[in-house]
Amino acid sequence: MTFHPDNTNRLPVYQQIARHFEQDILKGILRPGDKLPAERKLAIQIGVNRTTVVHAYDLLRSCGIVTSVKGSGTCVAQEQWGVRPLHLPNWQDYANGGTFLPTLPIVQRLAEAKQQKLGINLSSSELTQEDYPISILKQICKELPFNGSLGYPDPNGYEPLRTALHQFMDTQFKMNTDPSGILVTSGAQQALLLITQCLLNPGEAIAVESPSYFYSLPLFHSAGLRMYGVQMDEEGLIPGELELLLSKRSIKMLFLNPTYQNPTGRTLTESRRKEVLAICEKWRVPIVEDDAYRSLELSDETQSPQPLFSLDASHERVIYIGSLSKTVAPGLRIGWIVAPEPVLKRLREAKYQMDHGSDIITQQIAEHYLRSDLWEKQVEQLRHLLEQRRRAMVDLLFANCGGILSFTVPKGGYHLWCRCTPNVSDTKLLEACIKQGVLIVPGTVYGAHPRFVRLSFACNQVENIAEGVLRFIKAIKQSSPADD
Ligand SMILES: Cc1ncc(COP(=O)(O)O)c(C=O)c1O
Repeated sequence: MTFHPDNTNRLPVYQQIARHFEQDILKGILRPGDKLPAERKLAIQIGVNRTTVVHAYDLLRSCGIVTSVKGSGTCVAQEQWGVRPLHLPNWQDYANGGTFLPTLPIVQRLAEAKQQKLGINLSSSELTQEDYPISILKQICKELPFNGSLGYPDPNGYEPLRTALHQFMDTQFKMNTDPSGILVTSGAQQALLLITQCLLNPGEAIAVESPSYFYSLPLFHSAGLRMYGVQMDEEGLIPGELELLLSKRSIKMLFLNPTYQNPTGRTLTESRRKEVLAICEKWRVPIVEDDAYRSLELSDETQSPQPLFSLDASHERVIYIGSLSKTVAPGLRIGWIVAPEPVLKRLREAKYQMDHGSDIITQQIAEHYLRSDLWEKQVEQLRHLLEQRRRAMVDLLFANCGGILSFTVPKGGYHLWCRCTPNVSDTKLLEACIKQGVLIVPGTVYGAHPRFVRLSFACNQVENIAEGVLRFIKAIKQSSPADD
């Protein structure tokens, strides 16, 4: 071995060793499968500490240039040889870092299957393309005066939109707000991100419904929050269970999606809303109310109960999150937060640091949309469509599930939550569904037992829903029971 580290070189010794081997590999002196010297032997030979050699081999390994097999030492990689030279950044190493956690493997698998259009999609919280008010939005774009400034937008949100949202919440939801108490966000998702990043600290505990949409969001886990689930029944979260949790743990915040909840479709009754407020008042726990599905009561159902925000006389205990994604279009990315001023100030500053305010043109479009009677017409149509789709799904399930599924008919929203009677495994069931040509979301994504599945009736026309449900039932029958 002719190589010796150069003490005058500013490159650390372990990198010099790694580069030496990389050069030998690139020049073909070392060929795929050839062994590198044993760490201890090389360390003695070139007069360095063994850990320096270990470090150098680690670097080569992390670039995929060499591989190590226990007991056989370190060899030049057979397949990836030469693919990623050392002088290029190892992006995989960077990608494994940072604060945001990767998406759950089962969710990645589902996303992949959706992208490849591997089946009828009963997994999505979106409508079909034809359901979005495209021609109306085109017309609004044509008529928009675009008289606003094109400088960085107001970090609170475009003022006319905040006024329109205030009027909208007043007329549609009977909510008493003030335009200055509203922050426009890039969807409800950004609202949740701002709340978790700005109002909570890593290690703190939060309570969520069990099962819960929030459980599916890596942003809660990435923020280092400990999540405690509170059991639900058909009337939503069970107040006694909440009280028990709050008496045992120091919970900083309660996150609720109380109306036509994602994933269960359940709605917290008005009397329970009052109980939850009283319990949270007693234990001094603020509530985040994510109300993305309000307004989507289906045609034969009674109106949804008032928001917790309105039932709280103090208006200080509940942070309210709204969104246009479920009633207009998720592509607009319009959400908003109603909160007490100290909270809004903190969130506004963080939002400004994040994106310098939301896109002004979309905000103008949303403002025009809300000011007209278009929203009401659109939602009326949507309820009708969703009602038909829900009926198609429910009828088919009742007619064909033959004891292998149980569910309750949701009163609104997009989702139907069902329980499989056989003891299925989530990954096996998902694969069986993909094989049958239908996409569903396993309940484990929301923190539930593998037996549960979320079906969406929003994202397909009636004919496709029928076929999708039949395929789903076939998949359950075919997927073998989980190994206990
Ligand atoms: C309960 C709930 N909250 C928030 C969101 C995110 O909504 P947005 O598109 O407004 O970010 C969703 C989307 O599916 C949802 O189901």
